[in-house]
Amino acid sequence: MERMTDTARLLDQGPEHNAEWAVDDQTRVWQRWLLGWFDPAAMQCYHHRHWRKEFGDLRFPPLYPMAHHFGHALAQSPFDQAVCLTIDGSGDQHTAVVWRKDGDALEALREVFIPHSLGWFYAAITEYLGFEAYDGEYKVMGLAAYGRPDPELQAKVGRVVGVAADGIEFRVEPRYLHHGAHTWSGRFTDELVELLGRPPRRPDDELIRWHEDLAYAAQDALEVAVSRLVLWGVRTTGIHEVCIGGGVGLNVKMNSRLFEHPEVDDLFAQPLCSDSGAAIGAALAACLEQTGARPEPLRTWPWVRPGPTTTSSACWRWPSSTTSGPTTSARLSPPSLPPAASSAGSKAGWRLARGRSDSEASSPILGAPTTATRSTPSSSSVSTGGRSARR
Ligand SMILES: [Fe+2]
Repeated sequence: MERMTDTARLLDQGPEHNAEWAVDDQTRVWQRWLLGWFDPAAMQCYHHRHWRKEFGDLRFPPLYPMAHHFGHALAQSPFDQAVCLTIDGSGDQHTAVVWRKDGDALEALREVFIPHSLGWFYAAITEYLGFEAYDGEYKVMGLAAYGRPDPELQAKVGRVVGVAADGIEFRVEPRYLHHGAHTWSGRFTDELVELLGRPPRRPDDELIRWHEDLAYAAQDALEVAVSRLVLWGVRTTGIHEVCIGGGVGLNVKMNSRLFEHPEVDDLFAQPLCSDSGAAIGAALAACLEQTGARPEPLRTWPWVRPGPTTTSSACWRWPSSTTSGPTTSARLSPPSLPPAASSAGSKAGWRLARGRSDSEASSPILGAPTTATRSTPSSSSVSTGGRSARR
């Protein structure tokens, strides 16, 4: 996989896709918009326009295009070796990539291309259920917990998300999302409404059992498809540490299902799974290419510390240096901060829960970019905790 955005390949694939599925005029308009968005010259103008709005008439710095999923992948991994999955709605022509990370090297082992996008599928279901796509996906994930397995509904969802001929990759049937009339939504076609047999829920409509079961079916389809892809990567490489990046990686239920798999020893989900994480990776890659030096791994932000943890019994106890009592009503008033906290440039936080020792209960969390030391990665900040050595 090239590090740079491969617009030419995207353009090449258009006619191929359009020959495989019936494409109406509305879909062609969408395709043209998408291709225009990826045009390098248009992208330069876009950034210039917005940077000028924010920073004024400064000298416009050079831009270094970076393949979107490469950025997601480079921002990942506290592990020396890992199988990395980057998965989102779409990034350039990709919707998912499985990577082998070995030291500083990243090798794309398997690439899934537009239009087969689990991110777009989940966004479509989000909107179908009356929530805002690219925002309300967590509501679908939560709603799924109330759902039950409904074989008929699962079979219908299975017609939308299926398995590729290789038995490993997922395929998302475009006629349910892209190719066809979009009377109800820009994110799914009328054919999906016909398939599911009920009109999409409006935001103010009551949530009924059927909605919960649809959320369950969609969540399960996502988890099954991603698990198949990741486990292929684990078995192919023999590496049992897994990293997740890209917007779909915000689905913590999916991540937990991966982590629970016996073939996965440890899993790290990039906290910035969405495109802010890709931006970090792009900056790292540009630095690496221009200086030859790789910055230290970005394990945490030096000016943000997770702070000490406390026992649950000490959660509400005030530090002895303060006079306020540990009353419930006092919870919303932060305790007095030591003088260092008020110095210029310091940042302060206040914590109310999670504990390791009584003496650290409810202590302020302080940090300043110039003085704080880098935290070593801990199980809570870097990974989900890991398991014992591989069996
Ligand atoms: Fe992304």
